[in-house]
Amino acid sequence: MPEFSNFKITEPLVLQKPFREHLKFFLKDFAAYFGINHRGWHDMRRYHYTPGQEQPHLQVARLSQQEIDFVIQRSDEYLEEYIRALDQYNDDVLAQTTQGLALPLLEEIMSKNPVHKRIIDIGACYTRVFRKISSKYPDYIWDMVDFPTTLATANEPVATSSMEFHSDYPLDYLEKTDHVYDIANINRTLAWMGVDQIGEYLSILRERARYVVFAEPCKLLFEPGSLNIDAIPAHRPRCYNQNYLVHNYRAVFERFGFKLIHYDADSSTQPNTTPLHFIIRGVAVPV
Ligand SMILES: C[S@@+](CC[C@H](N)C(=O)[O-])C[C@H]1O[C@@H](n2cnc3c(N)ncnc32)[C@H](O)[C@@H]1O
Repeated sequence: MPEFSNFKITEPLVLQKPFREHLKFFLKDFAAYFGINHRGWHDMRRYHYTPGQEQPHLQVARLSQQEIDFVIQRSDEYLEEYIRALDQYNDDVLAQTTQGLALPLLEEIMSKNPVHKRIIDIGACYTRVFRKISSKYPDYIWDMVDFPTTLATANEPVATSSMEFHSDYPLDYLEKTDHVYDIANINRTLAWMGVDQIGEYLSILRERARYVVFAEPCKLLFEPGSLNIDAIPAHRPRCYNQNYLVHNYRAVFERFGFKLIHYDADSSTQPNTTPLHFIIRGVAVPV
């Protein structure tokens, strides 16, 4: 394996809430004591972290046809909204958003260790953020895979000639295609899957991808101070708002036959997040 000078492993991976956020929490809780519900604070406090209340699709190893149909319908609308939200940023700011945080990890591999010259993006959605890196490394073909039926048309204005779009359940797509990849990029998508479904993806990717790059969100809203991601049980991710999960990614990747060669967390610096939003980033290789 080449020398990846920009990769590092943070262990343990502990997300730390900044002091000013403690102060804000204290003030909002103090106000709540006197019945002031600042911007729906009571409900946020009560419902944000919902342990053990995962929706059924977060507990399955693969989505049923009914769940796929539901996601397809929702994802067509989401793609439209998402394009509108991201198009308010110019290209430089876009690279600093939560979507752009994987770019340095991708470039480290693309520049130093190409073999197949093919990348798959699982849950690709809107791909404008990859336009620049795709133009810089035009030999790499990108398979952009996601549920929206409008994936290709919606991305047409920002696509490069190296990007191929596939409207499909990415797990089905991976099982159908013979392609092998240098990188499987999974950005803010593992959080919407239970451990068993991640296992299904990783057992295919073990044979088909040399590196898995991921960047996944975590909010520290409900934590007393810091959150040790390594202390989350691999089989029992933290559930927020009943619909997204924070996994112990180190343990989950190891459980499914990978080892991390990069692992860190970037806190609250992205233009499209709240101050308590972290992105957990990693690069994993099959062992
Ligand atoms: C928050 S969006 C992230 C989109 C894009 N990767 C980004 O970082 O901006 C989550 C994406 O995951 C996709 N997704 C949801 N469930 C999935 C699953 N079980 N397998 C693969 N993709 C899924 C959705 O269609 C959606 O586009």
